[in-house]
Amino acid sequence: MKLISAVASALLLVASGAAFAQPIVVKFSHVVAEATPKGQGALKFKEVAEKLLPGKVQVQVFPSSQLFGDAKEMEALLLGDVQLIAPSLSKFARYTKKLQVYDLPFLFDDIAAVDRFQKSPQGVALLDSMKSKGIKGLGYWHNGMKQLSSNKDKLQRPEDVKGLKYRIQSSDVLEAQFRAVGANPQKMAFAEVYQALQTGVVDGQENTWSNIFSQKFFEVQKTIAVTNHGLVEYMVITNGPWWDKLPADVRDGLSKAMDEATAHANTLAEELNVRDMKRIADAGKAKIQPLTKDDVAAWRKAMAPVWKKFEGDIGADLIQAAAKSNK
Ligand code: LMR
Repeated sequence: MKLISAVASALLLVASGAAFAQPIVVKFSHVVAEATPKGQGALKFKEVAEKLLPGKVQVQVFPSSQLFGDAKEMEALLLGDVQLIAPSLSKFARYTKKLQVYDLPFLFDDIAAVDRFQKSPQGVALLDSMKSKGIKGLGYWHNGMKQLSSNKDKLQRPEDVKGLKYRIQSSDVLEAQFRAVGANPQKMAFAEVYQALQTGVVDGQENTWSNIFSQKFFEVQKTIAVTNHGLVEYMVITNGPWWDKLPADVRDGLSKAMDEATAHANTLAEELNVRDMKRIADAGKAKIQPLTKDDVAAWRKAMAPVWKKFEGDIGADLIQAAAKSNK
């Protein structure tokens, strides 16, 4: 009798599909190391999503360009080969020109100002700016302010980078920024930067302290100037049609996990950058060059023409809204 009822309930389970229901696999691919704000945010997302949706989702995180690098991750997302990526905001120009606002040099005084803009109606609206391309923005993640480095002993004034080759992310604004100071920019995927610096294919690069540390750029650069001239910030994106077709409870759980992961990454970002700046200083390999107010003013002035050049594409109103978030 017991056996019969056990068989009956097993049959019921099978009939309801529960016994064979496979979790939905969510692949999250990114290009940075795990010990960075984005790396930690992705791991937090996995932890919370799998806790909120036990047996319903399985999140697989692929750091350090292991699955897809810069060049391929957007296409992979649109093809459904990966479900979540978080590219730097400098890498979206193929899909919207509006996000170029984040690349304008010296637009934001600090990450607190960036945060205010991202939470403003204009900043929130940008999450939907690629909807017609099938891309849905789920949130912004901070990294931090960019610093400029080179393989020369002197890096303090704009004239110090004249004629030098600089690796840039794939952004026309960043290209114009380096041309404005007389340097030669080269677009290059993140995974290739260390080797390009080491072999002299490029002389310098710009990035946050956490990226400069975790990618070991400080080992192959002589000077890092504390310029704070721009940002590395991210938008976590998903494939819009895939997201819309998810069962409502799964979508809801993933949204909650994303909110928690966002809060986690954004709280950690500054701490990790401060920690990594100190680690670079302690390593004693690259000199950290502080800048005077006068130095910063010179960089700001040299790079200022970039704003006008992109005002048409970005929109003067959006630039103004962003500038207003400085206190
Ligand atoms: C870069 O390509 O320099 C970085 O923005 C990579 C990243 O995702 O932080």
